[in-house]
Amino acid sequence: MRLSAPLSVAVLALTAFTVSAQTATKAAPKAHHPATATLAATPPMGWNSWNFFHRNVTDKDIRAAADELVSTGMKDAGYNYVNIDDTWEGERDASGVLHTNSKFPDMKALADYVHSKGLKIGIYSGPGSKTCGGFAASLDHEAQDANMYASWGIDYLKYDLCSFRKDVMAAKAPNDKAEQMRLMVAAYVTMGKALKATGRPIVYSLCQYGWDAPWEWAPALGGNLWRTTGDIRPDWMSVIDIINQNAGLAKYAGPGHWNDPDMLEVGNGRLTMAENRAHFSMWAMLAAPLLAGNDLPNMKPEVKAILTNKDVIAIDQDKLGHQASRTYVDGEVEVWTRHLSGGAMAVAVLNVGSDRVSTHPFHLSLAKLGLKGPKAGKDLWTGKDITLTDNMPIELDSHDVLLVRIDAPK
Ligand code: GLA
Repeated sequence: MRLSAPLSVAVLALTAFTVSAQTATKAAPKAHHPATATLAATPPMGWNSWNFFHRNVTDKDIRAAADELVSTGMKDAGYNYVNIDDTWEGERDASGVLHTNSKFPDMKALADYVHSKGLKIGIYSGPGSKTCGGFAASLDHEAQDANMYASWGIDYLKYDLCSFRKDVMAAKAPNDKAEQMRLMVAAYVTMGKALKATGRPIVYSLCQYGWDAPWEWAPALGGNLWRTTGDIRPDWMSVIDIINQNAGLAKYAGPGHWNDPDMLEVGNGRLTMAENRAHFSMWAMLAAPLLAGNDLPNMKPEVKAILTNKDVIAIDQDKLGHQASRTYVDGEVEVWTRHLSGGAMAVAVLNVGSDRVSTHPFHLSLAKLGLKGPKAGKDLWTGKDITLTDNMPIELDSHDVLLVRIDAPK
């Protein structure tokens, strides 16, 4: 049964983590989550193994990633989680204890190593019997697995739906989509409670591809972030598709609970430098988790310059946690704005189309942003001062972005 009346924030506060699956589905859209406000108070930052290594990641690669986060300055820029994605899992023994496979000989030792660098460590599982990669997942072993993660010193769990769709949703409710969704939410509630019961602060990342509007129910069950879409790919069509699917979700994000447009592909695949810049800028505007997914030991200087741009990271990590909205669109150009602490504002002018050169540049309407020009700001990619004026012409390469911070917009 669906309730139309939204629960109040006060009720949500009381039900945090003890919330039932059914209550979670009725959560108010603007669901602040006081119980986790110190955990993921700003969007988590770090690195995850999947986008570059896929199934091939090993203990050695995770250690190297930790070393590189320190030596490249990424740790100092805020990247502090080293997250192992799928394919670390071995078999369960007769007591139900899940062992690692030969690529990860000693998870506790690995966690200790990552912690010794002043970093945190994340791991991956799912509510089904198998992960997306076909490895053992947590179905019927949720508390046992959560306790094991805590004993290893795990700080972050990505929990990926995958085989739960077949194992439970399709098996138990073959012709009832709504019941399937209730089963899915219940599974995320179960792991949320198991994590909470460990007493260890573990960031809880829901990965179920945005099914059944997780922004409406994930905060109430202790979710710190939830994927809003299917998997990202390292090409522009995927990046822009995900950006567009996150337009309008601003009101669901805030300290402790974030929309997750998926991990970064900056430096991967076919993305040009303009596209890498636009991708990173827009993830910062979206208050997205910034989980780099590139080959850190072989990172090009220009990729490092993008990932460590402190001004852009400061937009992402702004403590108000207000996600950007797409304020207006003019053909191939989208203008996004984000309110920042201290009354500041970020403006992103994103060119989704072909080059805009001096013959027919884009003309920015300050009035549509609710501003009266001129407005002094900083161009966060050139590092130079810029003054925004009404109707100003802007030239932009294809798939590039102008990202400006205005400290005193009013
Ligand atoms: C799913 C997730 C990805 C990754 C893979 C691992 O596709 O969405 O982010 O974790 O599983 O198998």
